[in-house]
Amino acid sequence: MSTKSIMKIIDEQEWLDEAAETIQPAVLNAFKSGGKPGNDIKNFLHGKWLGHPLHPMITDIPLGAWTTVAVLDTMEICGSKKYKPGADAAVGIGLAGAAGAAATGLADWTGTTQVERKAGLAHAILNVTATALYLASFILRKRKKSRKSAIALSMLGYGITTASAYIGGNLVYNQQMGVNHAAAPEGFPKDFVAVLPENELAENTMKCVQAEKINVLLARKNNEIFAVANTCTHMGGPLSEGDLLDDCSVRCPWHQSIFSLKDGSVINGPATEPQPKFDVRVRDGQIEVRLKKEQLGDFIPPE
Ligand code: FES
Repeated sequence: MSTKSIMKIIDEQEWLDEAAETIQPAVLNAFKSGGKPGNDIKNFLHGKWLGHPLHPMITDIPLGAWTTVAVLDTMEICGSKKYKPGADAAVGIGLAGAAGAAATGLADWTGTTQVERKAGLAHAILNVTATALYLASFILRKRKKSRKSAIALSMLGYGITTASAYIGGNLVYNQQMGVNHAAAPEGFPKDFVAVLPENELAENTMKCVQAEKINVLLARKNNEIFAVANTCTHMGGPLSEGDLLDDCSVRCPWHQSIFSLKDGSVINGPATEPQPKFDVRVRDGQIEVRLKKEQLGDFIPPE
C-alpha cells in the first residue's frame, strides 16, 4: 500500500478530527493554565532551546531500544538465554524514551491542522498502544512470569511501533512537519536589491515583497525598518498576514509562533528555527535588502 493511500485512509477518518477537536484545545489550555512556566515547558518540548525540533531526536531512543529487544528476544527464542537481561533492560530504556517522545510529540501536535493533525493523532494512538504492550511485557519480565507472553507482547508492540514510525516519517517527509520551510536552496539576495519605495511602508505596518526569489516581510516599527523571510519556518505560514506586535515582533497567522523582527529569533513556538534575517538600507528612496552577512554560509554556499 502506498504512502498516499495510507494518508488518504487516515484523512477519511472523521472520528480522528472529532477527537482532535476535543483533545487539542485541552492540551493547549493545560499549557496556558501553567502561565509562563507552562509556556516555557511547551517551548522546551518543541526544541526552541535547540533551534531544532526535539521530538524526532527523542523517538530514536524507544525505536533503537525496542529494535534491540526484538533482536535479543529472537536470539533467546533460538536458545541463547544469556541475552535475557539485556532484552529486559532495553524494554525499560525504551519505556523511558517513549515518555519523552510522547511529551515532545504532544507539544508539537498542538501546532498542527488538517491532515497532519489527524495523522499525528493516529501516530499517537499507535504509540500509546505499543507503549502499553511494552509496559505489560516489562511487568511480566520483572515478575519472571510467563516469559513467552512477555516476548509475544514485545513483538506485537514492535509491529505497532514500526507502523507508527511509518506514519511519523510520512509527517516529516511528505507533510513536511519539522522541516524548515523558510530555507530555500537558492534565491536569497547576497547583495542589496531594491524591494519597495520607502514611502509605501507606513509606520506600524507590514508588507510582503519579493527579493530575487524570496518573499520578504518588511515591517516598520518606531520608524525603523525590519526585514525577515515572510515564509514561517514552522509550516510555511505567511507572516505578512499575521500580527505586528508592540515589542518589534511578528505573530504567524497559522499556529501563532512569534518571531523577533530584530534578529529573526523564535520568541514563542511551535516554531523552533529562526526566520532568515535581512540587512536593510534606504537608497534613493528605495528600501533595499540582502541576506544578513552572518547567514550567508547557512543559505548561500561560499564561492
Ligand atoms: S506556520 Fe505554524 S506557526 Fe507559522
